Amino acid sequence: MKFSYLTKLGVFGLKSVLFKWEKPILGTVIVTDFCNLDCKHCAVNNINKVMHSFETISFEMQKFYDEGIRILFLSGGETMLWKDGNKDIKDLIAKGREIGFYLINIVTNGTVHLNIPEADLVFLSLDGMKDVHNKIRGDVFDGIMKNVRKANNTNICVFTAINKVNQKEISSLCELVRSEPNLNSISFNFHTPYRLTEHLCLNTDERRAAVQEIKEMIKKGYPVFNLPSTLDIFLKNTWKRPCRQCVVSENGERFDCGRCSVIPGLCENCGYLFAVEFSTLFSGNIRAIFDMFRVYTRFV
Ligand SMILES: C[S@@+](CC[C@H](N)C(=O)[O-])C[C@H]1O[C@@H](n2cnc3c(N)ncnc32)[C@H](O)[C@@H]1O
Ligand code: SF4
Ligand code: SF4
Repeated sequence: MKFSYLTKLGVFGLKSVLFKWEKPILGTVIVTDFCNLDCKHCAVNNINKVMHSFETISFEMQKFYDEGIRILFLSGGETMLWKDGNKDIKDLIAKGREIGFYLINIVTNGTVHLNIPEADLVFLSLDGMKDVHNKIRGDVFDGIMKNVRKANNTNICVFTAINKVNQKEISSLCELVRSEPNLNSISFNFHTPYRLTEHLCLNTDERRAAVQEIKEMIKKGYPVFNLPSTLDIFLKNTWKRPCRQCVVSENGERFDCGRCSVIPGLCENCGYLFAVEFSTLFSGNIRAIFDMFRVYTRFV
C-alpha cells in the first residue's frame, strides 16, 4: 500500500477515536450470489441466483467512496464468476481504481483463475490441505493449486475459516503458504454459526487451542495476516459489534458490518476476525494500531 494511503487511513483512525466517529472505512460489494461450490460451512451461496449489473455495482462503489469508504472488497457468491456482457471482474477493479479506492481486494474460491494482478490482494479461501479442504468444499484442491502456480502475481492471501473439520490444519496451511511463491500470507477467521452450520463451531477450549497455534505461527515468523493483539480480545469476546467501520452492500441493500447483522443472535458468536480487528482498532486500542502498521506494511 502506498505510504500516503496508509497515513491517510491513520489520520482517519485518529479522528474516529478522538471524535468518536462511527463512519465506515471498509466496504464490501456482493457482485453475485451465484456459486459453483456448495461448501459445508456457507449460508450465502445461490440464494437468489442474481448477477448484479455493472451499473448497479459501479453505483454502489461510487456511493461508498462518496461516503468516505476507501477500502473496497468485491465478494460473492463466487466473485470470479461475475460477468455482465463482455465485462468481468477486471472491469470492476478498473472502475474502483478510477473512483479512487486506496485498496481493492477480491475474495474467491480460486476455482476459476487467480491471475488478478490488478487487485491489491486476492483472498483465496483454502480451508485445509487437500483432504480436509475437499471434505468441506468438494474435489477442487488440486485445480486451485494449479491456478495458484499459474498466476502471474504474488498478491494471494490464503483465507481460512477455522471450524470443527479443519481446526488441526493451521500449521500445515502456514507451511504451504511459506512454500508457494505466489502465496503472500494467510488470514484466519473462525466459523460463524449460521443456521444449520452450528455444529461446525469450535467450543471454548478448541478456540483457545487454535488461537494459541496461530500465535505460535506468528512468533515463528510465518506470514500471518491477522493482528496478534486482537486474538485475545476475540477469545474474551468483549469487542463492540456490529463493527461500524465496515459495511456491505448487496443489490443496493446496506448492512452494517456484515450481511449477518440481520440474523438474531449471530453477532454474539461472530468468528470474523476482520470485524474484531476493525472494531478494536477504532476503539483506539494502541497495541492493535501498532500491529496494524506492522502487518499492513508487510503484506499489502
Ligand atoms: C462467502 S465466501 C465468498 C467468496 C468466495 N466464494 C469464497 O469462497 O472465497 C467469503 C468467505 O466467507 C467464508 N465463510 C463462509 N461461511 C462462513 C462461516 N459460516 N463462518 C466464517 N466464514 C465463512 C468463506 O470460507 C470465504 O472465505
Ligand atoms: S465458494 Fe464461497 S460462496 Fe461458494 S459455497 Fe463456498 S464459501 Fe460459499
Ligand atoms: S459482528 Fe459483523 S461480521 Fe460478525 S456476525 Fe455480526 S454482522 Fe457478521
